[in-house]
Amino acid sequence: MKRLLLDVMTACAVLLVGTVVGMAAEAQFPNLSDKKDLVIKRGFTKDALACIECHAKKMPGIVEAWKQSRMSHAGIACYDCHVVEKRSPMASQCEGVKGTQIFISPMVSSKTCSRCHPQEVEQFSKSGHAVLAGMPVCDPKKLAGKMLRLMYENEGAAFMDDIKLTLDGLTPKDMPPSNRAARASGCQMCHGTQVELGPDNKPINETWPGGVGMRYPDGSIGNCTVCHTRHKFSIADARKPEACGACHLGPDHPNIEIYFESKHGQQYLAHGDEWRYDSAPDTWEPGDYTAPTCATCHMSGIGELATTHNINDRLKWDLVHKKSVLRSGERGDGAKADVLMRKVCVNCHSRTHTDIQMNTLDNAVALYNKFWDGAVKMKQELGKKGLLKKDAWKDGFQELMYYLWHHTGRRARQGAAMNAPDYAHWHGFFQIFQLYKDMEDLYEYRMKNNTFEPLSPVMSTGPY
Ligand code: HEC
Ligand code: HEC
Ligand code: HEC
Ligand code: HEC
Ligand code: HEC
Ligand code: HEC
Ligand code: HEC
Ligand code: HEC
Repeated sequence: MKRLLLDVMTACAVLLVGTVVGMAAEAQFPNLSDKKDLVIKRGFTKDALACIECHAKKMPGIVEAWKQSRMSHAGIACYDCHVVEKRSPMASQCEGVKGTQIFISPMVSSKTCSRCHPQEVEQFSKSGHAVLAGMPVCDPKKLAGKMLRLMYENEGAAFMDDIKLTLDGLTPKDMPPSNRAARASGCQMCHGTQVELGPDNKPINETWPGGVGMRYPDGSIGNCTVCHTRHKFSIADARKPEACGACHLGPDHPNIEIYFESKHGQQYLAHGDEWRYDSAPDTWEPGDYTAPTCATCHMSGIGELATTHNINDRLKWDLVHKKSVLRSGERGDGAKADVLMRKVCVNCHSRTHTDIQMNTLDNAVALYNKFWDGAVKMKQELGKKGLLKKDAWKDGFQELMYYLWHHTGRRARQGAAMNAPDYAHWHGFFQIFQLYKDMEDLYEYRMKNNTFEPLSPVMSTGPY
């Protein structure tokens, strides 16, 4: 077992902790458990030590992970992140603090981190990982109820139970818990959701825990543990592609698959275990690694670029939605981002190589948009003649159109952006033109016969 000496200068801890209550009293420094050999020398208050001591027995997994973190070495403990004021909407008491004036919460939002890491939280909150990530699950009204219907009515099978959905409230009221299961086990774990609290200030309706864009009852947005897994909270973990692959995978955004297929990912697979991941922020440079990970291109400091927690800073195009446009407004600043992303590449490639790669991406975007515009034109004409079904999931044309942008279209664009020829081609443009030709057939049949084809030829299978 590892021996951990928490040898921290109290003065320094007080400075960093700022407003945190109760740092005054010094503790007794007992051995926390005879077999584990953990010695706390100084830096913790009596109350802060009590949490560690008892939890080392009750939840040793958490305490062991925390012991490996840099923050534990800096004297940041359970107390600093989990203790809340009595009036906090999230305040409750665990077995160990019942009857005391100490209140705790199992929920820890980015607001807690911002006490000591204001810059990271500020950058994060301007990124697509914050408000926008939670939007599909939390603000169904903003998406005209479409996502609500998808989550509860279709995937949640409410359509089979004759349950009326209203757009009031975050979790549709009066529906059996099983209708919530698709949201809670899927969307929420990547996107996040709004935590709903019961009378004891504990989460209800399975609205916690959740993904990157979690919205907490203290009004803040963001779950920092999605990349910095608790309770180690390491930057090394976050620099590895697996941290991102937890959510960026699958048929509709296969970023980890794309990465492993690229030359960069192949280098990571071949040599990644020889690379160094724990260099201090802004000093992690080529030499520590020979090819970039997701973090290198999208977040890390490299060359003249500083680290950013705003993953939109280096994105030129919108490669997510139906039509790809230059990013602007809440989605970023495409022109500026183009300059920044090229600055990443030129640490390892020539300007010529980089410009060619970026031209290829621009051309792939233009090609994809051409297919999309053609599809929109057909859809408009069908719409004018009343030849679109109200339920898009029972309409072959509309279903194919969904796969065109949401699955194959993203794969083609993102495969081209991140140097994965198989995704750009076989999972991408090859399937795009096939979908397009099938859509043309359906369009022509409907226009000629002024009615729908007898049965959807798609039957929800779609291209993987
Ligand atoms: C740097 C801040 C930080 C420190 C220090 C910290 N935690 Fe946490 N803890 C978190 C975050 C963040 C979460 C995830 C909360 C969420 O998803 O809303 C969490 C979750 C938890 C949970 C609930 C989730 C689960 O897996 O059951 C428990 C229990 C917990 N921590 C106990 C502890 C204990 C005990 C300690 C001290 C050994 C500790 N924490 C130290 C930030 C911290
Ligand atoms: C004497 C033992 C003991 C002490 C001291 C103690 N706890 Fe706990 N804590 C527990 C036990 C047992 C649980 C699990 C049962 C429960 O949730 O009440 C728990 C649960 C928790 C949870 C999860 C609550 C949830 O609803 O998921 C958090 C967070 C937590 N404790 C933090 C702390 C903090 C912070 C301190 C110090 C201020 C502390 N605990 C002190 C025993 C203790
Ligand atoms: C009370 C102050 C405080 C709070 C609250 C706090 N941190 Fe820290 N954190 C620190 C200090 C101090 C360090 C530097 C430790 C070192 O490098 O020795 C640190 C370092 C880190 C690191 C770098 C770890 C590494 O491997 O180099 C990460 C990541 C981190 N914190 C994330 C978080 C997250 C996420 C939260 C909120 C859940 C949080 N911190 C809350 C003080 C805090
Ligand atoms: C495995 C993780 C994961 C699951 C599960 C998931 N998503 Fe996503 N979703 C993502 C990622 C990652 C993106 C960003 C895609 C990109 O940038 O190419 C995304 C993008 C989106 C977008 C576009 C976001 C925007 O800002 O316009 C919407 C809408 C969306 N998802 C809705 C949902 C809904 C609704 C569900 C459940 C029915 C769901 N997602 C399930 C990971 C997931
Ligand atoms: C999308 C993944 C991701 C999320 C979400 C994330 N981080 Fe990080 N974080 C990283 C990466 C990657 C690094 C290392 C950057 C580098 O190479 O220097 C890092 C580094 C850090 C550091 C070390 C100092 C620095 O700025 O480089 C701190 C502190 C930190 N993060 C805090 C946070 C906090 C607080 C949150 C929640 C608001 C958060 N992180 C959310 C990926 C993430
Ligand atoms: C817990 C799930 C999760 C993890 C882990 C995660 N992301 Fe994301 N990411 C999302 C979701 C959800 C979105 C969609 C945000 C939106 O609606 O714009 C997203 C969007 C993005 C975008 C596009 C932003 C936009 O506005 O279109 C990039 C780039 C990105 N993530 C990079 C990363 C990188 C790099 C990592 C790892 C260091 C990472 N993500 C880790 C869930 C995650
Ligand atoms: C070699 C650098 C590089 C690496 C490595 C890399 N990306 Fe990218 N990524 C890019 C570029 C360039 C784009 C296109 C940027 C633009 O929009 O112009 C992009 C686009 C994206 C997008 C789509 C965002 C949009 O523009 O709509 C997501 C999501 C994403 N990357 C996530 C990841 C994840 C997750 C990983 C690792 C599994 C990763 N990236 C690895 C360079 C990289
Ligand atoms: C840390 C160094 C590093 C960074 C940063 C980097 N690459 Fe690479 N890249 C490599 C290595 C190494 C190879 C493999 C070269 C080989 O095949 O011999 C490679 C290969 C490639 C390839 C495959 C084609 C070829 O040259 O054989 C493309 C395309 C590519 N990179 C584009 C980019 C783009 C675009 C960026 C910036 C968004 C970027 N790279 C950033 C190291 C890097």
